[in-house]
Amino acid sequence: MTEMNLIIDKEKCVKCGLCIKDCSAKSIEFGEDGFPVVAQNGEKRCFKCQHCLSICPTGALSIFGKNPENSNSIENSINPDDLLSLIQSRRSVRHYKHENIAPEKMEKLKNMLKYVPTGCNNHGLHFSVIDDVEVMDKFREKINKRVINVISNNTVKLVTKKFGHYIDAMKNGEDILFRTAPHMVVVSVEKNAPCKDIDPTIALSYFELYAQSMEIGTCWCGLVYWLLTMMPELQGLLEIPETHKIGYVMLFGNPENKYTRTPQPKDVPIVSVKKEGKELNLTFIQKVKRIFGK
Ligand SMILES: Cc1cc2nc3c(=O)[nH]c(=O)nc-3n(C[C@H](O)[C@H](O)[C@H](O)COP(=O)(O)O)c2cc1C
Repeated sequence: MTEMNLIIDKEKCVKCGLCIKDCSAKSIEFGEDGFPVVAQNGEKRCFKCQHCLSICPTGALSIFGKNPENSNSIENSINPDDLLSLIQSRRSVRHYKHENIAPEKMEKLKNMLKYVPTGCNNHGLHFSVIDDVEVMDKFREKINKRVINVISNNTVKLVTKKFGHYIDAMKNGEDILFRTAPHMVVVSVEKNAPCKDIDPTIALSYFELYAQSMEIGTCWCGLVYWLLTMMPELQGLLEIPETHKIGYVMLFGNPENKYTRTPQPKDVPIVSVKKEGKELNLTFIQKVKRIFGK
């Protein structure tokens, strides 16, 4: 038995080779008898994506102890117009009901997170969820007090610079940072994950759309993300593992209001690349700027 624990049910396997074709790591190959086997060094290359298990038309392939019977069958695809309408109607919600969302919706949201794609199938994300409004209130109070204190005493100059103009509103009890949200999810990512810059954003994008499909409002929260980055000691409150760095923050909860119409966004520049272009003749400085930005 190998680590991959690849088991082929020879009664069911039709030797179609789809599992082999779809394995981007080239971890599986045809054996002498035409059934799929682990390729030489296949275990080392396998990154556990389970494409082989998912694509097998006859459910003949088990791997890592995962049997095809335990997967959900994929039959109905979602209506694209419904999905587009969800995307078009998504808004940043900044006013929430002071209550927990229904527990079954919270469960669904949490369960969904294991399906989000990560670069190289790393799946090393960590999610800190505040799923109780009372805990959120305590967290909110603590952070707000701390920020007001830091600004008043100018102890972290960058925080004063960025939040100074909010101080009066914050002192008056306006929830500038957390927008009255009853819940918050903070995603963190393994510091050495292959796609650490993008994995957290993908996860929260999925989270946002799935939440809004259940009429749960969300708001990306750059302000709290920035604060947690500038004052890393606050991250301890969220039990972020030491191996991880904070990825981003999203607020969520039952919205206080409903939006009745979509926005009318400006067009985004989109070019259709039709013919072979010219390679740019860049100076060293221009190349560096292209790679690292301004
Ligand atoms: C990465 C990112 C960070 C954001 N940070 C905040 C924030 O800290 N506070 C806030 O109220 N809105 C925040 N927003 C919401 C944007 O301001 C919002 O997307 C924009 O105003 C357009 O509104 P819409 O999302 O409803 O279309 C953020 C949005 C994104 C994508």
